[in-house]
Amino acid sequence: MSRAIFTPRSLLPDETSSLDNRSRGKLCIACFFVTMIRVQMIQLKSVSKMYGTVQAVHEVSLQVADGCIFGIIGKSGAGKSSLLRIMSLLEKPDSGAVFFNEERVDTLEGDALLAKRRKMGMIFQNFNLFSSRDVRGNVAYPLEIAGMGKAALKTRVAELLELVGIADKSKSRLSCLSGGQKQRVAIARALAAYPDVLFCDEATSALDPQTTRSILTLIKDLQQRLRITVILITHQMEVVRAVCEEVAVMESGRIVESGLVETILREPKTGAAREMLQGLAAPSGTYLGVSR
Ligand SMILES: Nc1ncnc2c1ncn2[C@@H]1O[C@H](COP(=O)(O)OP(=O)(O)O)[C@@H](O)[C@H]1O
Ligand SMILES: [Mg+2]
Repeated sequence: MSRAIFTPRSLLPDETSSLDNRSRGKLCIACFFVTMIRVQMIQLKSVSKMYGTVQAVHEVSLQVADGCIFGIIGKSGAGKSSLLRIMSLLEKPDSGAVFFNEERVDTLEGDALLAKRRKMGMIFQNFNLFSSRDVRGNVAYPLEIAGMGKAALKTRVAELLELVGIADKSKSRLSCLSGGQKQRVAIARALAAYPDVLFCDEATSALDPQTTRSILTLIKDLQQRLRITVILITHQMEVVRAVCEEVAVMESGRIVESGLVETILREPKTGAAREMLQGLAAPSGTYLGVSR
């Protein structure tokens, strides 16, 4: 876990050195508490969703801190994608509520809903790219929809392709790209409109281990550089161990266990969590080649 550890004095900027000791003491205590409070970016309160007679999501409550990589893990059919569609406002829950930064968002409609959705990026296992468009055309798509002018759009697309490491593929057709390169196009497109959150639904599940490693490294790097929140859905504990700070374990539509990744790895409390841990390699400094 790479969370910084602060001593209270180290939180004070140099400019405070002219203050007397008592004032500096008070100031550093205040800074310490501010640092300890983690802002909740996404909150789900008792969210449920039925499809016909299937209870896909069952009274799920969840808090995702701003600027973290949060994992949701479970077997196929556990309800992960259904939960993600509710979190990303693609679908409304039957009951319960979704909040972003304390604002209730599951009840939004029309332009207000669209505006919120524009601040979210999504990537999937099967990339969901337009085969009729080349690389730059795919990345440009959300910017065209948002009405960006031609010159600004060209600059932004070039910047995004550079960011994900495929600047040289700008004019390539998708059929000429590897799976990893396609996922980089999808990531560039997802980040085009400066989202606050990136949702990843089994984004590395179709990739070989080496490509999985490079995409996870990229996601982790982008999360830190752009200071976005990442919700990462997977059925692989190795992926969670490689990049997530916190994880929620889903089974039959419910979250059966959640907490810091290290804690769940060390002391899984439920059968579902233990099952996810099966076959996991022994702890080491790096996971899937990604250093924590
Ligand atoms: N649009 C839908 N219509 C009907 N059933 C659905 C729909 N979406 C999901 N389900 C059902 O809900 C359950 C959870 O599915 P899903 O959220 O896709 O799980 P996961 O992503 O964990 O594999 C499954 O039983 C699935 O068949
Ligand atoms: Mg799914």
